[in-house]
Amino acid sequence: MALSRLVVHDFRNIEACDIALSSGFNFLIGPNGSGKTSVLEAIHFLGHGRSFRSALNSRVIRHQQPHLTVHGRVKTQDGILLPVGIQKRRDGSADVKIGQEKGQKLVALAKVLPLQLITPEGFELLTDGPKFRRAFIDWGVFHSEPGFFEAWTRVKRLTKQRNAALKTARHYGDIQVWDTELARLAEQISAWRQAYVDAVAARATALCQAFLPEFSIQFRFYQGWERGADYQALLAANFERDQQMGYTVSGPHKADLRIKVAGTPVDDVLSRGQLKLMVCALRLAQGQLYSEEQGIACIYLIDDFASELDSRRRALLASELTRIGAQVFVSAISADQVAEICDENSKMFHVEHGKINAG
Ligand SMILES: Nc1ncnc2c1ncn2[C@@H]1O[C@H](COP(=O)(O)OP(=O)(O)O)[C@@H](O)[C@H]1O
Ligand SMILES: [Mg+2]
Repeated sequence: MALSRLVVHDFRNIEACDIALSSGFNFLIGPNGSGKTSVLEAIHFLGHGRSFRSALNSRVIRHQQPHLTVHGRVKTQDGILLPVGIQKRRDGSADVKIGQEKGQKLVALAKVLPLQLITPEGFELLTDGPKFRRAFIDWGVFHSEPGFFEAWTRVKRLTKQRNAALKTARHYGDIQVWDTELARLAEQISAWRQAYVDAVAARATALCQAFLPEFSIQFRFYQGWERGADYQALLAANFERDQQMGYTVSGPHKADLRIKVAGTPVDDVLSRGQLKLMVCALRLAQGQLYSEEQGIACIYLIDDFASELDSRRRALLASELTRIGAQVFVSAISADQVAEICDENSKMFHVEHGKINAG
């Protein structure tokens, strides 16, 4: 998957930009505040319908403008150039277009534009709550299991309905009606997640050996309830506890990827720089697996390439990205920081006051 063209209007400080892209490395070079991260954010917006920096549309839409637009042409598996676009207004409403069809859903955009993001703030994957690692797992399951999105949406709805019913139920029979379908879907989702974790962890382990050879890192999937226990039986057994707590305590909504170094949580052992390397290894592992399964690579957005990565690690990251054939967008303050990974297929863009010029 690669974007061959990117058109942006009224996104942060970018009034208008229309650039032809490389299917390999695209470098965005410019001083602080020039708009480099905004370009990455615009591509992310095209793939997810939201920013990775702010949940508020009003922050992202250029000051005094009614809406933002991002368009692109995606080269798909079949070699077709598919036009995709999103327009988002200040009230949060959006128009999504894929091919000639308007009124598409965001989830359809996410399918055609698989993105991997590496930012200086991205340690949350390792240091913050399980929801970040669930999102990591679910990125992979979403792209490999066609039934995942619908099943997971349904599980979230059923769990919400069950939680509401718990408040008024007098005995387990009053809520049992939710549990048969919930348990069936939860077991299915867990099986998908477990299989994905097994596959991605094998690759992540090999990549961690290259990036962090001094550590031995273990990955373990936690499905959100006791391993081996039947989820439906557990829901019945935990009815009173759930009722006291006011919500369903165990379940696929509590799943996590537990990552340890010699039995200790990674964030207690690794430095910031090492955490960043580990995030790179995990994101690369996902990209490798995606390429193997889909026969085409996902797109990488790497903000502040130089931050926390020495030149040896930058070269290692770049060579892995080249090997999987990914299209990559890299921001950096100066061209020196990317000189060593620039090749004949790369494109360099200079960013200044929201203007993006090929150079
Ligand atoms: N909604 C907005 N409208 C106009 N300008 C904005 C908006 N949001 C942020 N900016 C400005 O956009 C600029 C781009 O910032 P950013 O993309 O983070 O730059 P860089 O990554 O190059 O340091 C900043 O100078 C910021 O003040
Ligand atoms: Mg920036």
